Amino acid sequence: MSVQTVPISSAPQPVSVSQESRGGGSTPCISVEGLCKSFGGQVLYDDLWLQIPDRQITSVFGPNGCGKSTLINMVSGLLPFDGGKVFINGRSIREARIGYVFQNYRDSMFPWMSAYDNIAYPLKVKGVPRRDINERIEKMLTTFDIKLELRRFPYSFSGGQQQLISILRALVAEPEVLFLDEPFSALDFEMTLFVRDKLQQIFLATALPMLMVVHNLEEAIFLADQVLLLSKRPTRVVETVRFAAMRPRLPETLSDPIFIETHRHCLDVFRQEVRK
Ligand SMILES: Nc1ncnc2c1ncn2[C@@H]1O[C@H](COP(=O)(O)OP(=O)(O)OP(=O)(O)O)[C@@H](O)[C@H]1O
Ligand SMILES: [Mg+2]
Repeated sequence: MSVQTVPISSAPQPVSVSQESRGGGSTPCISVEGLCKSFGGQVLYDDLWLQIPDRQITSVFGPNGCGKSTLINMVSGLLPFDGGKVFINGRSIREARIGYVFQNYRDSMFPWMSAYDNIAYPLKVKGVPRRDINERIEKMLTTFDIKLELRRFPYSFSGGQQQLISILRALVAEPEVLFLDEPFSALDFEMTLFVRDKLQQIFLATALPMLMVVHNLEEAIFLADQVLLLSKRPTRVVETVRFAAMRPRLPETLSDPIFIETHRHCLDVFRQEVRK
């Protein structure tokens, strides 16, 4: 069995790259064109070109310190870049509605606000009337089958529940794309499964495109339609590996030959890269 891979060069390419490298025929949600970023004179990205498909989950995997967080922070508008352009659904980042889930859910929530008020916060600062906010939150809870006592404060929830609350906060403003930086890394195994299942449920209900950094290869592949394998710095996309297993992905997915082969292939590429 062979794993379907799509190499994407970091060299300049025309914007309209082939159907295949646009994610199996899907229109791109994010276009990265000639992105450059250095820190203290050290080049991290030099002319990176990338397209992230709409209605798909894309994982980013690569060696420590290769720039995974920097990439999603630049693409989501949290971090300025030195050169190049990023478009979200054809518009500038500033015009796009994005959701962002931070690695450390504890530091990203306001501890003095109830879980409900944390979720409502992005709409409140936009001046959305309370009645509309309540409706929006109720709708999310029903759609994603979430039963939490949201009047409680964040500390009183388990880690997985807190991460779920921060995901709901990222979703409440109905983003066009959801960015997640290591959403499972602060969670234990049981909570990882819980949050992973909820993310899958959210994706099945919304087809919201997601771009997530995941440092555990199994987790990077499990939910993904494609995994971007990054090189050491100066960082480029070594390969885009497709994973087309049926959804919903279940525990049995992990023992599916396609999963095993995809995992093996990604690991090979990763090992070659860190050996360089
Ligand atoms: N604000 C900054 N100032 C200077 N160097 C930085 C800054 N942010 C990141 N770097 C450097 O850029 C490189 C990439 O950092 P980044 O955090 O994006 O990597 P990463 O792939 O997410 O790492 P990890 O696997 O540890 O999460 C690292 O060498 C890091 O030290
Ligand atoms: Mg990181």
